[in-house]
Amino acid sequence: MTLLGRLLHGAVPPPPPDDLIHWDEAYSVGNALLDNEHRDIVAVLNDLYRGRGTDGRPLDPEHTLARLRDVAEVHFANEEAVLARHRCPRLDSHQSEHRVLWSELSTLAAAMPAMDADTRERALASMLRKIVLGHILVADMRDQDYLRE
Ligand SMILES: [Fe+2]
Ligand SMILES: [Fe+2]
Repeated sequence: MTLLGRLLHGAVPPPPPDDLIHWDEAYSVGNALLDNEHRDIVAVLNDLYRGRGTDGRPLDPEHTLARLRDVAEVHFANEEAVLARHRCPRLDSHQSEHRVLWSELSTLAAAMPAMDADTRERALASMLRKIVLGHILVADMRDQDYLRE
């Protein structure tokens, strides 16, 4: 069963009640740098969802979303460099997916100040689904033969 299938069918343990998603080693693409960056992306998304950091202190959602954009920007560039070095035949389509996610993150960052808490929660949950369930567990996993180092 695919990772996405395992996740959807409950074979992957549910996240702690406070988190949207819990990092699982099954998500590894076999590249320590990229795995750490994926972990960071998941951690920031969980922070945004909770509205507070792991130390329990309240977060400024806009500042945290800016942090996510920074982490994602560096990660997309690093991942594309590895795909290019390993001559991944799907580099162009993978890059396009990154560009779409980046533009959605930018749109969300611009819209966030005007959102009430419920709208923000829904928008963040949707962003998390797109990045983790829609990209990391699909495109990154599909291309992991070209990401492994
Ligand atoms: Fe990635
Ligand atoms: Fe990717």
